Amino acid sequence: MQNKVRKAVFPVGGLGTRFLPATKAMPKEMLPVVDKPLIQYAVDEAREAGIEEFIFVTGRGKVLIEDHFDRSYELEQVLIERGKDAVLEKLTESLPSTGAVAYTRQREPLGLGHAVWCAKRFVGDEPFAVILADDLILSDTPALKQMIDARDNLGGGNILAAMEVPKEQTSRYGILSPGYDDGKTVEITNLVEKPDPSVAPSNLAVIGRYILEPTVFDLLENQARGAGNEIQLTDALSKLLENRPFYGLRFDGTRFDCGDKIGFLHANLAFALARDDIGADFKEIVKQVSETL
Ligand code: UTP
Repeated sequence: MQNKVRKAVFPVGGLGTRFLPATKAMPKEMLPVVDKPLIQYAVDEAREAGIEEFIFVTGRGKVLIEDHFDRSYELEQVLIERGKDAVLEKLTESLPSTGAVAYTRQREPLGLGHAVWCAKRFVGDEPFAVILADDLILSDTPALKQMIDARDNLGGGNILAAMEVPKEQTSRYGILSPGYDDGKTVEITNLVEKPDPSVAPSNLAVIGRYILEPTVFDLLENQARGAGNEIQLTDALSKLLENRPFYGLRFDGTRFDCGDKIGFLHANLAFALARDDIGADFKEIVKQVSETL
């Protein structure tokens, strides 16, 4: 079996109800942080981690995502005529190459677990990454690259991105039960979806980056609906870890929950301040605004 992580799955079939009306006709994943859509951050992160094939699980109303990752001849022509070479270069350099992208539709948004299962035929019998574009991570080394490097050191296995959260927030996340823990990589002995703080096994939450072995597809195939009447990825992962090595990686970086309004605004602030071109000017504006509060 191929052991290198070459493929990434991007589940983008959700409805994004927390962002209505913005997401009525536009996919949530096309919301921009500064000047780049969330889904492009995700694809760039995957490419920088060495991913060669990009599999999107889309849904109704998501064709804009396909257009975004395609050539736009008219626009390119206008940019050439106007001498906007730098803009044109930026636009084309981030396009995945032809043949390296696949789109499949999740006909009904039955949950993240179901969305991942929809990618089964495209992934085949090899380990793969899953990236949730609404979990945006600001880091020096792309989070997925950190995970792939950690997996290489471990010699394979399933690995999830893990993050300490305040104890009172455990009911918002999938929470892991830690086994052997070297402070960076932690063995996962169990996973619980959104536990109440009183029963949470730790405050280590799983966030939207996963490297999984293809056996997960068999479990997803028979996975019953769980919380929210959706087919949950966490439920299938809990079964998978009964007989497979499973790890969490405390990645270096800051994660923003861009599926939520406050998290999305926070990401815009942090990413704008971190930019070489606009960071300094924007900092002045932030200062002025905060003085008026
Ligand atoms: P969310 O839980 O954020 O759901 O999904 P959502 O529908 O996108 O947004 P809200 O809660 O209505 O505002 C987490 C991730 O799983 C994907 C989403 O696109 C998002 O990346 N997802 C979710 C699917 O691809 N299909 C589904 O059926 C559900």
